[in-house]
Amino acid sequence: EKGGYEHFMLKEIHEQPEALRRFLVGRLNDESVHLEELNLNPEEIKSYSRIFIVACGTAYHSGLVGKYVIEKLVRIPVEVDIASEFRYRQPLIDESTLVIVVSQSGETADTLAALREAQGRGAKVVAITNVVGSTIAREADEVMYLRVGPEIAVASTKAYTAMVMAFYLFALYLGQIRGTLDTEEIQKAIAALKQIPEQVKWIIENTESEIQKLAEQFTKHENAFFIGRSVDYTVSMEGSLKLKEISYIHAEAYAAGELKHGTLALITNGVPVIALVTQESVYEKMLSNVQEVRAREAWVIAVALEGDEEIKKSAENVLYIPQTMELFTSVLAIIPLQLLAYYVARLRGCDVDQPRNLAKSVTVE
Ligand code: M6R
Repeated sequence: EKGGYEHFMLKEIHEQPEALRRFLVGRLNDESVHLEELNLNPEEIKSYSRIFIVACGTAYHSGLVGKYVIEKLVRIPVEVDIASEFRYRQPLIDESTLVIVVSQSGETADTLAALREAQGRGAKVVAITNVVGSTIAREADEVMYLRVGPEIAVASTKAYTAMVMAFYLFALYLGQIRGTLDTEEIQKAIAALKQIPEQVKWIIENTESEIQKLAEQFTKHENAFFIGRSVDYTVSMEGSLKLKEISYIHAEAYAAGELKHGTLALITNGVPVIALVTQESVYEKMLSNVQEVRAREAWVIAVALEGDEEIKKSAENVLYIPQTMELFTSVLAIIPLQLLAYYVARLRGCDVDQPRNLAKSVTVE
């Protein structure tokens, strides 16, 4: 059942190229995005004044990517909330608010409660989920399925990358209908999206053995930091959660610009810092953050775009991902971090697929 892999998590990481390809089938052609499955009429789509994205854990992190992408491409304000916070804070929503709940399992108690809270306040709820027939799928007004197949490992991998793809597509769809994107921009974005499954495959093939070596050095550490700017910051959070969850190494994610406001005090000789450096618009800023931590003798592992030679001067190790549109790097940049978490946890003898204290589906709050 593990298809020759030692753990479900590794199998699911390797399934991503195929899973993402399946996710895209029928949802786009060269010219436009097709999400008629959502049954949202154009007038309604034009009427949204605000979007809320509500979820837990890894699904919440996908929502953070969603915020960057939707705000940039569609220019609608997006708020992302943790379901257990949203449900108790009397959220300010009305009929012109679209609420998107994200849940791989479709059974997470807090996310389900958030969905009901939103509907009770008159909002339409779109669910992004993997499990057909799940409670969230049944109760939501509209559903977009991830189609990645069963995810068994507690640590979510292929569901996360598909959720991120769902937000890319959804943002393009809204932009297409609301007219914030012209045909040329949409075509360019679609061309980039179509390459993603192949690019994910490339990353696995080209980084896995290097990551296995890095993992040997990594296992002896008890603390790690993940830093990034813009969408890289959201990927940092997901990378950090993955590492904590399965290897039990304490990890924190920081917006790189925040380091000076406290965390830099913890950066000392040899401390691992995973720096995401894929955002061209803030490249120079990020580079100087990397130099700052290097100056404190941190061990910097960078995730950077292919062709970036500059970063090698400041980072001891560089894991490359292929070039894509700036907004779409998150689905690629997370792959090496999933692999790193996996190999570190395995070397530490952890129960990778079933980490202590955690359940795959959190049906109690
Ligand atoms: O099934 P869901 O997507 O609603 O689950 C949400 C979280 O419990 C889940 O993503 C959790 O954070 C993962 N174990 C992270 O890998």
